[in-house]
Amino acid sequence: MTKPRQARIYQGTPRTLARLARRLQQGDVVAVPTETVYGLAGNALDAGACAKIFAAKGRPADDPLIVHIHSLAQLPALCRANPAALTLARKFWPGPLTLVLPKTDAVPALVTAGRDSVAIRMPRHPLFRRLLKATGLPLAAPSANPFGYISPTTAEHVQASLGRRIRYILDGGPARHGLESTIVDLRDPRRPAILRPGVITAEAVAHALGRRRLPTAPATSTRAQPGPQVAPGLLARHYSPRTPVVLHDRIRLPRAEADTPGVAWVFQQRPKGRVGANVHWLDPRGRLPGVARRLFALLRRLDALGLDCIHVERARGGGLADAINDRLRRAAAR
Ligand code: TXA
Ligand code: MG
Repeated sequence: MTKPRQARIYQGTPRTLARLARRLQQGDVVAVPTETVYGLAGNALDAGACAKIFAAKGRPADDPLIVHIHSLAQLPALCRANPAALTLARKFWPGPLTLVLPKTDAVPALVTAGRDSVAIRMPRHPLFRRLLKATGLPLAAPSANPFGYISPTTAEHVQASLGRRIRYILDGGPARHGLESTIVDLRDPRRPAILRPGVITAEAVAHALGRRRLPTAPATSTRAQPGPQVAPGLLARHYSPRTPVVLHDRIRLPRAEADTPGVAWVFQQRPKGRVGANVHWLDPRGRLPGVARRLFALLRRLDALGLDCIHVERARGGGLADAINDRLRRAAAR
């Protein structure tokens, strides 16, 4: 499947959008910007196009894809929505929220990994929305990274890790949120559950549904676990750099250690006092949106240095910190 040519990065002019839309209609795959992370998109109704997505990512066939839409009018063809789903869609779409709902026969089994449910999201990124509209199609798109590796938050990240396996990358600038969407299981509207924490917090989803709280599915350590409230493919180890990652509640760094070769220290905020070459921080003031936005880019950059170890401090607080810590836990899992 490896293509010899390097993928090209396209700017989102009307001409390139029309061209990439034609490629998608013809069954090609295109890497696209979203407000969460970059995705690798293909026609969700074309099993052949979706097979190319799995092949390019090296993704196991038991890990289902998210289907992206630009209009609520596309829903009935794809899924059986319920009032709870429509409530969340009206409140949070377009945005970083994915709903798992009973699927229709139009959605190929490959997309849903044989499940009778489908994951659907209406993204907010303006270029991706224009592309969706231009194709007139629902587009299946997982994160545009090789399976198990860190999700890409820039077009350059996509080129660096999938550049020899795909041909088209649409550049929409650095992703605004930097973490994958919140996934909510709404197959049974009486038992909603968070399958993956994200920028839209569990509290916000519960509140919108008029509930005090929502259960969060436990991270699965094995794939294809048949339990009802489990997101397949969410391996305990995921989003992982090749370099070992060690998590800390709080890093207290003795002077001498700040310069240990082969080791990086990643703080949530700029640490006071001496700063060594191996000392990094995710946001100057430790603000969570900034931490989320820069996390994957920093892990990629450090991973490229061939270090022995990356030490990272956990985010503090709830809400967005839960989503950040979820990704950190998976990056650190061995
Ligand atoms: O922000 C995002 O969600 C990004 C952008 C590109 O939209 N996409 C993304 O896709 O993160 P991906 O493939 O990396 O993660 C999708 C996850 C799957 O691993 C699986 O856990 C869950 O969504 N999922 C998909 N379909 C499902 C289904 N029918 N039931 C339960 N979980 C499902
Ligand atoms: Mg992914």
